[in-house]
Amino acid sequence: MSSSSAIRFAAIGCGNAGTARICTLAEHELGVKVVAGADLLSANLDNLAARLGYPVKQYVGDQAYKKMLAENELDAVGIFTPHIPHYEHVLAAMQHNLHVLIEKPMVCGSANALEVTKLMRESGKVGIVHYQRHYEPKFAKARELIQKGLIGDIQRFFVYMAQDWPGQTWRAEPEYSGGGQINDSGSHYLDILLWMLDTLPRSAEGHTDSFYNGKRGKVEFNGSFNIELENDAVGRVVFLADIPGGFIDDVRIIGSEGSLFFQGDRLIHFDAKKKSYHDMPTTLAKNYPSSPCDNFVKLIRNKVRINRVPFIFGCRVALLTEAMLRSGAQGGRKIICADILKESGHSLEDLLE
Ligand SMILES: NC(=O)c1ccc[n+]([C@@H]2O[C@H](COP(=O)([O-])OP(=O)(O)OC[C@H]3O[C@@H](n4cnc5c(N)ncnc54)[C@H](O)[C@@H]3O)[C@@H](O)[C@H]2O)c1
Repeated sequence: MSSSSAIRFAAIGCGNAGTARICTLAEHELGVKVVAGADLLSANLDNLAARLGYPVKQYVGDQAYKKMLAENELDAVGIFTPHIPHYEHVLAAMQHNLHVLIEKPMVCGSANALEVTKLMRESGKVGIVHYQRHYEPKFAKARELIQKGLIGDIQRFFVYMAQDWPGQTWRAEPEYSGGGQINDSGSHYLDILLWMLDTLPRSAEGHTDSFYNGKRGKVEFNGSFNIELENDAVGRVVFLADIPGGFIDDVRIIGSEGSLFFQGDRLIHFDAKKKSYHDMPTTLAKNYPSSPCDNFVKLIRNKVRINRVPFIFGCRVALLTEAMLRSGAQGGRKIICADILKESGHSLEDLLE
C-alpha cells in the first residue's frame, strides 16, 4: 500500500453496527476504499453499497468471508458479526496478515482472547477493538486524572447500566451472544472501568437472570455483582435489561482523596478535603483520535502512534465477563479470575500491556 493510495478495506458482517462503522471509515480524510463485504444477507450488502454510493464485491453466506479474504487484495478488515463468531473471523483475518478493527466484545472467553492478542502482536499489524468510550472526553480525561492521582488510591466503584434490551435475533441465542446483555452493552462498562482504573479483575461474585418483562429467555439479561480488582478496589456492577424508556447509566469512582462522577458529557470531581463538587474540563490532547475508526486509519497511516484500544483491553474485559457469567451460572459462587486463567495455562501477568 503506498501512502497515496486508499486503504483497501473489507468487512465481515454488514448489519447495523457494521454499516455504520464502514461508512465512517469510508468518509475518512486519509482515504479508505471499501472493496468487499461479507454477510448472510445480500440485502445488507445492497444497502451498504447504496449508503457508500459505489459498488462493493458481495460475499453472501456463513463461510463466504473465507473466499472474500482469499481473492481480494486487502490491507484491512472490519469484524462486525455476532459475538461468538468474532473468534473465527479474527483468526481468519490475521491469517491473511491484515489490520483488524473488531467490534466489542473482542472475542468471548479469556483463553480465546489471549490467543488472538498474542497472534495480533506477533503480526505487527494494527488491531483495535471498537470500544468508543475510550474516545469520549469525560472517560479519557477521568483515566488521565486517576492516573495522575487526583482522587488518591482507588477504593470503591459503582457501575449501573440499564436499558430496554429485548435480546432479539442472534442476541437471544447463547451460541451467538456468548452472555446476553452482560456480554453486549455490559462489555462497554466493564471496559471503561478496567481502562480508567488501569487495573485487572481479581474476582466476581453475583447473580444473573434471564427475565425480560416477566418472560424467561435463553441468555443472561440482568445481573448484579460484587467485583474485586487487583488494585484492591471493590465495587458493585448492576446491569438491567427491561426498564422502559431510554438508556441510562451511572459510573462513580471513589478514591482516598475524592471521587469522580459522570453525568451526560460532564465529569464531576468531588474533592474530599474541600468537601466540594466541581466540573472538570474534559479537553483532550489535540491529536487525540475522535473514534476507534479514526484511530485505526491514523495508526495504519502512521499519523498517530498510540492505539487507544489494543486487543489486551479486550482480554481484560473477556476475563471479567467470564468470571461474572460463571458466578451467575453457579448460583453466585465467588470466581477468582486467576483460576480461570490457569485453565488455559495463563496468569494475570499475561494481561499486562
Ligand atoms: N460499539 C457499539 O456501541 C456497538 C453497537 C451495536 C453493536 N455492536 C456490536 O457490533 C456487532 C454486530 O452487532 P449488530 O447490532 O450490528 O448486529 P446485526 O445483526 O445488525 O449485524 C450482524 C451482521 O453479521 C452478519 N453475519 C452473521 N454471521 C456472519 C458470517 N458468518 N459471515 C458474514 N456475516 C455474518 C449478519 O447477517 C448481520 O448482518 C456485535 O459485536 C455488537 O456487539 C457494537
